[in-house]
Amino acid sequence: MVLNLFYPENIIMKQAESHILVIFGASGDLTKRKLIPALLELEKQNLLPEEFAVLGVSRTNLSDEDFRQRMTEFLPKDENELINKFLERLYYQPLSTAESYDYPVLRDRLFTIAKERNIPENFIFYLSTPPKLYDIIPQNLASVELNRSEDGFRRLIVEKPFGTDLASARELNLNLLNYFSEEQIYRIDHYLGKESVQNLLVTRFSNGIFEPIWNHNFIHHVEITSAESLGVEGRGGYYDSSGAMRDMVQNHLMQLVGLVAMEPPVIVEADAIRNEVLKVFQSLRPLNEEDLEKNVIRGQYIESHIGENLVKGYRQEEGVNPESRTETYVAMKFFIDNWRWASVPFYIRTGKKLPTRVTEVVIHFKRTPHHLFGPVHDAQQTHNQLVIRIQPDEGILLKFGMKVPGAGFNVQTVNMDFHYNDLANVHLPAAYERLLLDCMQGDATLYSRGDAVEQAWKYVQPIIDAWNNNPNIPIYGYPAGTWGPDVAENLVEGAEWRYPCKNLSNDGTYCEL
Ligand code: BG6
Repeated sequence: MVLNLFYPENIIMKQAESHILVIFGASGDLTKRKLIPALLELEKQNLLPEEFAVLGVSRTNLSDEDFRQRMTEFLPKDENELINKFLERLYYQPLSTAESYDYPVLRDRLFTIAKERNIPENFIFYLSTPPKLYDIIPQNLASVELNRSEDGFRRLIVEKPFGTDLASARELNLNLLNYFSEEQIYRIDHYLGKESVQNLLVTRFSNGIFEPIWNHNFIHHVEITSAESLGVEGRGGYYDSSGAMRDMVQNHLMQLVGLVAMEPPVIVEADAIRNEVLKVFQSLRPLNEEDLEKNVIRGQYIESHIGENLVKGYRQEEGVNPESRTETYVAMKFFIDNWRWASVPFYIRTGKKLPTRVTEVVIHFKRTPHHLFGPVHDAQQTHNQLVIRIQPDEGILLKFGMKVPGAGFNVQTVNMDFHYNDLANVHLPAAYERLLLDCMQGDATLYSRGDAVEQAWKYVQPIIDAWNNNPNIPIYGYPAGTWGPDVAENLVEGAEWRYPCKNLSNDGTYCEL
C-alpha cells in the first residue's frame, strides 16, 4: 500500500504486483501516443509496481535502444531524470506475431527479463495489433503456456474494435475463451477510463438528491452528444469500413447509456457493476424497420467553407470510396423498456466534422405541473437540465429558473456549475493511465464484459443490416462544420437538442468552439 501525494490524502492506493507488460503492435501509433505516455505518468505518480518492465513486440526489427529512442517522441522534453529511469524499463523483441514457431523466443525473453529484474511470473499481454491477429496471438501464447496462471497472473488486454458485427464479436469471444478465462480478459473501451465518465456513477449513487428523481416520474428525456470537430484524419481506410455506428455508438455511447440508466449495483465491484450495465442493454427496445427509418438518422459530411477555409467532404478524404455511403454522423431516438425508464426517450448523437469537440450527457427534467409565472415560451428554459460534461471543460452544470430582480415575476434560467479544473493540485488521470493501472491491479470494473459487448452488438446489428440491405434509407449530407443533417432537428419531441460549446456553462453569450 502506498499513499499517493497527487490523490487526496485519505485515498490509499493499492499497489499492483510486480509484472511485465507485453505490448503486441509496439511499433504502432497507439503505443507511442497513448500507452507509453500513460505509463510514464504512472511512474511519475509513483503508481507503478516496485518492479515493472515493458516488452514491446512487433515485426519491425529494432533493438531495445532503438525502441527506447522511438518511444520518446510523445514524452515531455524536460524531466530527464524521471524519463531516463522510465526508459530503462523498456525492452523490445522483434517477432513474427502470427507464427507460433516464434513464441518460444518470446517466452525465453520474458523469463530472462523477469530473472534479471527480479520480477515474478506475472504477465499482462496487450493486443494493440490489427484485429485479424486477435485470434492468433492468444492461441500462440497458449502454445507456450503463457496463458496459464498457476505461477503468476496472466492477463490479456484487447483493444477495440471488438468485432465488426454481432457474428464476429461472438466468434472472437469464443476464440479468446478457448485460451483465456473471462477473468483474464480485459476489453478496452477508453471512454470508461475517462474520469468524468466514472463520475457519472458517483454523481448518481453518492448523492441523496439525484437518485430519487432519476426515473420516468421526473425525467422528460435524456440526451447524449459526442461531437468531434476533426474528420477521419488519415484513417479513411479503416473508417470507411466502419462508420459512426460501429466506431462510436456500439461501444462508447452504449457504455455511457449503460452508466446513466443502470440500477444501483450492490457493491462497487467489476461483476456487480457490469451485471447492471448488461441489464440495461438487454432492456433496449429493439427497433423494427419502420422505427428505424424514422428514429435513426445517418449523415455524411460534405465539402464546405469554414471561415476562409474550404474543407474537404468525406468522400474526398484519402482512403475513402468516392461513392461511399458510410455514415460520419448518427442521431437516434430509442427507449429502455424497464420499470425505471418506461416511456422516457433517449437521444444520442455523434459525428465527425461538427462545430466543436464535446461529449456530454444532459438529463432534461419534466416541467413543473403548473406554470405559475406566465406562459411557457421557451421549452429549453423551463425544463431543468443537469449537464454532465465528459469533455472538455469536464464538470457538472445544473440549469434552473431564477427570478429576474425587480418588478413582477420574470423567470430566467441560471447555471450552477462545477468544473474539474477548479480543483487545485489534483491530477486528472488520462483514460489509458487509469485503465492500465486497473488491469495491473486486477480490477476489470472499467473494462467491457464479453456478454455486454455482444448485447450491444445485438442492438445495433439490425440498423447496420437495414442500411446495408435497403438503399432507399437515406444518408443525409451535412456541410462540414455544422451540427449535422437538418432532419435530426425534428427527432427530439417537445424540446430541442442542446448545442454545446467548448465551455460548459454557455448561455448563448459566450461560446468558444
Ligand atoms: C475512437 C474512435 O474509439 O474514439 C475515433 O475510433 C474517435 O474515431 C475517438 O475519434 C474519440 O475518442 P475521444 O476520447 O477523443 O472522444
